[in-house]
Amino acid sequence: MDMDGKVALITGGSNGIGEAVARHLAGQGAKVVLADIDDGRGAEVAGDIGGRFIHTDVSRPDHTTAAVAFAVAEFGALHLAHLNAGVTSWCSMGDDFDPEAYRRAMGINLDGVVYGIAAARPAIIAAGGGTIVATASMAGLVVAPFDPIYAANKHGVVGLVRSIAESYAAEGVKVHALCPSFAHTNIIKGSEQTLLDMGFPILDVSDVVHGFQHILDSEETGQCWYVVAGRESEPFRFRRAPGPRLD
Ligand SMILES: NC(=O)c1ccc[n+]([C@@H]2O[C@H](COP(=O)([O-])OP(=O)(O)OC[C@H]3O[C@@H](n4cnc5c(N)ncnc54)[C@H](O)[C@@H]3O)[C@@H](O)[C@H]2O)c1
Repeated sequence: MDMDGKVALITGGSNGIGEAVARHLAGQGAKVVLADIDDGRGAEVAGDIGGRFIHTDVSRPDHTTAAVAFAVAEFGALHLAHLNAGVTSWCSMGDDFDPEAYRRAMGINLDGVVYGIAAARPAIIAAGGGTIVATASMAGLVVAPFDPIYAANKHGVVGLVRSIAESYAAEGVKVHALCPSFAHTNIIKGSEQTLLDMGFPILDVSDVVHGFQHILDSEETGQCWYVVAGRESEPFRFRRAPGPRLD
């Protein structure tokens, strides 16, 4: 996908992976709208890249709809939606289970992607086609005992992307999930040494952007692209589940 002159909306674009993707896309000539709850940093990044910022809480469908409308009003269309806003939940599934922490994590990491896809789809169709990339995680592909609710919502994103891909393709909309391993951003701040001690190398954010670019270059849809240290990012190949035995 040639992004020169194209319009991209990035949720969670004020920091970390979203910010890095925003800078990367702007460098290719894209017009970028950042949608985030971090207004100060978002406005700063948007200013740097000639983009726009809109305060958006992705757990609220009205905010997401407004962000898509804002991108179309400011730049005339929407070709790419990177639904990337996310948080860790650190929500225990033990005796101290906290329903509020659970709802907050699901509201941002899963509802936020659902609302983002629902809002972006008609705008991208109206633009003649384009791409939706949802940031999931390796925690959407493997077990994550350190944060099972995070694993649940990221697996939810993976299942959603894979399930809508075929019908969206018929409308000219590609859908992918970006599944990074741990990367140096605010989300893991304070846990870096623990992760390294556990044997997890930590990616540079530029590695994740590299994986994102692979998605834009891909002819496929409905793929979940792992980004792990020392490997080129590729679509994760799921095993077929067994079908029924009728004998
Ligand atoms: N960094 C990692 O190790 C890692 C690994 C795998 C997946 N991810 C995923 O990458 C995505 C980006 O995270 P990051 O690592 O750049 O972290 P980050 O904390 O640097 O960025 C997250 C951004 O999301 C924004 N945000 C939080 N809640 C929001 C809400 N309700 N509405 C709108 N914006 C909101 C934050 O303000 C921030 O700008 C997340 O979905 C995260 O789960 C991160």
